[in-house]
Amino acid sequence: MKKMMVAYDGSEASKKAIDMAVKCSNQEDEIILLTVIPAELSESSFTKMLLPTIDLSQIVKSGTFKEKALESLSKVAKEINFDIKKLSTAVESGDPADEILLSAKKHEADIIIIGYKGYGKEGRFLLGSVTDKVVRHASRSVLVVR
Ligand SMILES: Nc1ncnc2c1ncn2[C@@H]1O[C@H](COP(=O)(O)OP(=O)(O)OP(=O)(O)O)[C@@H](O)[C@H]1O
Ligand SMILES: [Mg+2]
Repeated sequence: MKKMMVAYDGSEASKKAIDMAVKCSNQEDEIILLTVIPAELSESSFTKMLLPTIDLSQIVKSGTFKEKALESLSKVAKEINFDIKKLSTAVESGDPADEILLSAKKHEADIIIIGYKGYGKEGRFLLGSVTDKVVRHASRSVLVVR
């Protein structure tokens, strides 16, 4: 039995990572879909600076972000062809790479499956910074999906 953790940020590359996880799994395996809400989204001084002028207060509450992330993860989970009992979703907030590494440890994942680039950066980088950091620091195997 393998435990696979897929890092999902909504990007096409991370959708491919999910497809790859499903493709590489058998009936005994478990898949965990993880989204990290970047800390700077809710904690940046830029956001705080904007707060008094624009009513972002509802949006920046990380509870709201978390709900949205969980919602979209469960939508994605429903769409894929995988035994729902063996599929779970998780949302963390903080530094995406750090949280991916911590969660993989916490859940004792055998492998981390991750896209080579993220959301909205078509062809700008050979490898996204989150993937770069995860590959460099992971104590477990990482599959970078292209
Ligand atoms: N917030 C996140 N939560 C979960 N997984 C993430 C998150 N951000 C990135 N990932 C994972 O990392 C992969 C690569 O994204 P990454 O952020 O490294 O590249 P990028 O967005 O193109 O570049 P950068 O963020 O460095 O500007 C994604 O396909 C996804 O699997
Ligand atoms: Mg990114």
